[in-house]
Amino acid sequence: MRAWVLKKQSKIEERPLKLVEVETPYPKDDEIRVKVLVCGVCRTDIHIAEGDLPLKKDNLILGHEIVGIVDKTGKGVKRFKVGDKVGVSWLNSTCGKCKFCLSGRENYCPNFKCTGWDVDGGYAEYTIIKEDFALNLNDIKLEAEDVAPLMCPGIAGYCAFKLTDIEKGEKLGLYGFGPTAYYVLKVANRLGIDTYVSTRSQKNIEAAKKAGAIWAADASKKDLPCKLDRSIVFPPAGNLVEPALKKLEVGGILVLAPVSMSTIEIKNYSQNLWGRDIRTLFNVKKSWGEEFLNIADEMQIKMGKEVFPFEKLQDALILVRKGEIKEPNAVIKIS
Ligand SMILES: NC(=O)c1ccc[n+]([C@@H]2O[C@H](COP(=O)([O-])OP(=O)(O)OC[C@H]3O[C@@H](n4cnc5c(N)ncnc54)[C@H](OP(=O)(O)O)[C@@H]3O)[C@@H](O)[C@H]2O)c1
Ligand SMILES: [Zn+2]
Ligand SMILES: [Zn+2]
Repeated sequence: MRAWVLKKQSKIEERPLKLVEVETPYPKDDEIRVKVLVCGVCRTDIHIAEGDLPLKKDNLILGHEIVGIVDKTGKGVKRFKVGDKVGVSWLNSTCGKCKFCLSGRENYCPNFKCTGWDVDGGYAEYTIIKEDFALNLNDIKLEAEDVAPLMCPGIAGYCAFKLTDIEKGEKLGLYGFGPTAYYVLKVANRLGIDTYVSTRSQKNIEAAKKAGAIWAADASKKDLPCKLDRSIVFPPAGNLVEPALKKLEVGGILVLAPVSMSTIEIKNYSQNLWGRDIRTLFNVKKSWGEEFLNIADEMQIKMGKEVFPFEKLQDALILVRKGEIKEPNAVIKIS
């Protein structure tokens, strides 16, 4: 099969991926082989390609926003048959035996394996996944190209949203308005939750208002009109944490979504932190991923995407890196 392989980490402008012919993978007993239709581009791909994250395997195939069709099943596979439509997300597998896996908190599993990082991902004609971790898309009516971005920013945003434990009638704050926050806002609207967005750029402020925010501005320049019940910080900016806590009601929860963050300093514990909880998003859960896909499909949530042919993957990565992509998401069409 044809696949884009990462030979050696280097700046994305140096084109570290090579389109080569590799052996088509064969599914083990509990695995399915997926013929990849599309795979969305994520910034994490660039972090891995450039070496911000360590390389965990040689000749790695990146890509973790995969939509495809089952084309071969292992002998023991029960959930899927050839021809089924499936999704593969960042969550490739967990051990299934540890205390976290056994209590439905597999996102904390010490053996959490990531698609397109620990194991080969979707920038290839075929990919392999254990049947237990593939998402069944047979009933999803959205086009594959619209489903791909749901697989990473969509599911991650929904997991951050679930961590807030917010209820109907409460007020939600979102700090930073990228693709992840967009999906959260859409879901919050549907559940009757008033959402307040703080983001710096006029472009994102307008996008948030258009998507249904009650209020959108840069809260460091224009004071939020009220206190909030729950909030989520998306950008990796530690300086947002104390102001976000300050705007929370006592009893509120602040969820931090980033995988890394600049220094967090709490200067006034008694006024800004005391009585509030901080939670962090640590990987994603399969059940929440499934829940989100069904909600997104029911609501027909679509975000702008620019579709690139398979051969142009590297050009797409360079454009994403430079922030020169016209739409919020880039999606690679593979077959
Ligand atoms: N924990 C997990 O398991 C997991 C999984 C997937 C994703 N994530 C995280 O989810 C987050 C969201 O990703 P995303 O791509 O949607 O968001 P993003 O593009 O990183 O950030 C969203 C917006 O925040 C604003 N922003 C950026 N830097 C800022 C700063 N220093 N101060 C204030 N605002 C800033 C920008 O908008 P303006 O220019 O308008 O301010 C930006 O468009 C990422 O941090 C990622 O690490 C976590
Ligand atoms: Zn991702
Ligand atoms: Zn485990």
